[in-house]
Amino acid sequence: MEPKGISQEGGNTSLRDALANLGRKLTQGRNSREQGTETRELERLRDSYLSLMQGCLTGIIYEDKPLKALGTEVYDRSVREVGRDWPSMAHTMIGVKRLANLRTLAESVIRNRIPGDLIETGVWRGGACILMRAILNAHGVTDRRVWVADSFQGVPPPDSKNYPADEDSTYHTFEELSVSFEMVRRNFERYGLLDDQVVFLKGWFKDTLASAPIDRLALLRLDGDLYESTIIALNTLYDKLSPGGYVIVDDYHVVSGCRNAIGDFLASRKISSGLSEIDGVGVFWQKTPLS
Ligand SMILES: C[S@@+](CC[C@H](N)C(=O)[O-])C[C@H]1O[C@@H](n2cnc3c(N)ncnc32)[C@H](O)[C@@H]1O
Repeated sequence: MEPKGISQEGGNTSLRDALANLGRKLTQGRNSREQGTETRELERLRDSYLSLMQGCLTGIIYEDKPLKALGTEVYDRSVREVGRDWPSMAHTMIGVKRLANLRTLAESVIRNRIPGDLIETGVWRGGACILMRAILNAHGVTDRRVWVADSFQGVPPPDSKNYPADEDSTYHTFEELSVSFEMVRRNFERYGLLDDQVVFLKGWFKDTLASAPIDRLALLRLDGDLYESTIIALNTLYDKLSPGGYVIVDDYHVVSGCRNAIGDFLASRKISSGLSEIDGVGVFWQKTPLS
């Protein structure tokens, strides 16, 4: 009886095939082991880079003191954690947890291939948008852009005729909220992240957002401090958000006008997916994914 794997024709092709198969399997095994190691190393380096960016952008690395505008000038890590102060130097005021939430959701739309760009409406010194650009960089994403929308001259005075919910807002009186276009550009440059994947929308949201040449969004971050700023961004941009994309609302629990705008918008669109909490200040929701 012919031993298994050995043919008659002066050769043992079956055995050879079997060995070749085994070799292939071993090679594949080695390659996938190597690939696994490389993937883990890549993830480690990516996390190191983005964590360092987060530490710099929030100012926790150098214990950046807060501006006097909101009271104390003493740095308190627990306050910065939930973004309840305005940093004197750091490039974002949204704090550690909301910046981490931005990273989680931005990485989720990349991993889950939710199509579209990323935008923040209300950027101040640009830090949250700088992190968005860094995330694209860390994941080697070259076909998405970061839209940076701001007046670059602070919050507008309340238009209480059209938006009564803003009547008592005093945010327009804070010079600290006015950061020039040149300064924000320079901040991107400082991190080596200013390029053609960053697009600035300069002006009041009522003049810029509706006509912005944005095709599709995967992530919409709202941080405009007013009913007006929140509702305009939603009314003009929500329909461009891909199913499975996210809306992040920075001020939900601390600015009543913003909260009212979200309530009105969700009711008008009959959206009942529910809001997820971030840090007791901000919330987010996911647009119903395609099934
Ligand atoms: C609280 S700050 C944003 C903080 C920022 N997201 C960060 O990471 O630190 C609010 C920003 O919204 C902008 N803003 C508010 N309402 C606006 C509007 N209607 N049009 C244009 N910019 C507006 C202000 O100029 C300001 O830069």
